[in-house]
Amino acid sequence: MASLGTALVTGASSGIGATYADRLAKRGYDLVLVARDRQRLEALAARLTAEAGVAVEVLTADLTERSDVRRVEDRIRADAAITLVVNNAGMVSPTPLIEADIDELETMIELNVVAAHRLAVAASQVFAKRGKGTIVNIASVVALIPEQFHGTYNATKAFILNLTQSLNVEAAPHGVRVQAVLPGLTRTEIFDRAGSSFDRFPPDRVMDVGDLVDAALAGLDQGETITVPSLPDTADWQVLTAARLALGPNLSRAKPAARYGVA
Ligand SMILES: NC(=O)c1ccc[n+]([C@@H]2O[C@H](COP(=O)([O-])OP(=O)(O)OC[C@H]3O[C@@H](n4cnc5c(N)ncnc54)[C@H](OP(=O)(O)O)[C@@H]3O)[C@@H](O)[C@H]2O)c1
Repeated sequence: MASLGTALVTGASSGIGATYADRLAKRGYDLVLVARDRQRLEALAARLTAEAGVAVEVLTADLTERSDVRRVEDRIRADAAITLVVNNAGMVSPTPLIEADIDELETMIELNVVAAHRLAVAASQVFAKRGKGTIVNIASVVALIPEQFHGTYNATKAFILNLTQSLNVEAAPHGVRVQAVLPGLTRTEIFDRAGSSFDRFPPDRVMDVGDLVDAALAGLDQGETITVPSLPDTADWQVLTAARLALGPNLSRAKPAARYGVA
């Protein structure tokens, strides 16, 4: 059987990233696991090597540090064995933006936007040259509902959704697959890290992380560009897309709309 190549997963030490690593190893991918916590990454690497018999490498990086992001980017550009990048590392802000520390918000933007953008663009450039490769960007349903949760976090995830939609148009003709995954509430460590908890949400709104990743991978297998694991009916997404695209012809015109009273 042909090798699937290597999957590089960011934020692989816990939650969604660790679960992707598990599932991808069991599909037969070799792995490069990226996060800050070397001990946890090495423990996961040892387990996956033993259970799945794949090669697993640990690449520690703090993706809020530009020099560390460059190291991961260099690896993606230089390693022709990498066929899949799961751009997953991310954090939430603990408070609404109106109360937040602006420096903490910028750190979140470094991780959720600047690093994710750099790795997605680097992967799309090398994959386009090779004529193949897959990029999975972990966004969030808050990209669609910015009226809920915290402003800057929501905006970082809207950036990832928008970037994926643009990347898909640019990279697909070069043989590159791109997918944005929009999880709803998913039981991981993300709120604990922000001093909060999933206990404040009704249990029927919170998905198990294994189910989330299994559905996201099924969406990838089915050729979806946007995967919303919770959404029962994809026709709802298609209606939204059609309504958005229908605005197109009227979004850039020589004259302002009549309601503004500009002659
Ligand atoms: N859980 C949800 O409800 C939910 C919903 C929608 C979207 N998401 C998105 O899903 C993604 C994964 O989150 P999760 O829920 O799995 O959270 P998680 O359990 O807290 O995992 C976050 C991962 O990111 C890594 N990370 C955090 N800061 C980092 C940094 N500065 N540099 C490198 N890696 C860093 C962490 O590892 P280290 O601490 O070892 O660095 C960890 O592996 C995020 O992008 C998040 O926005 C989550």
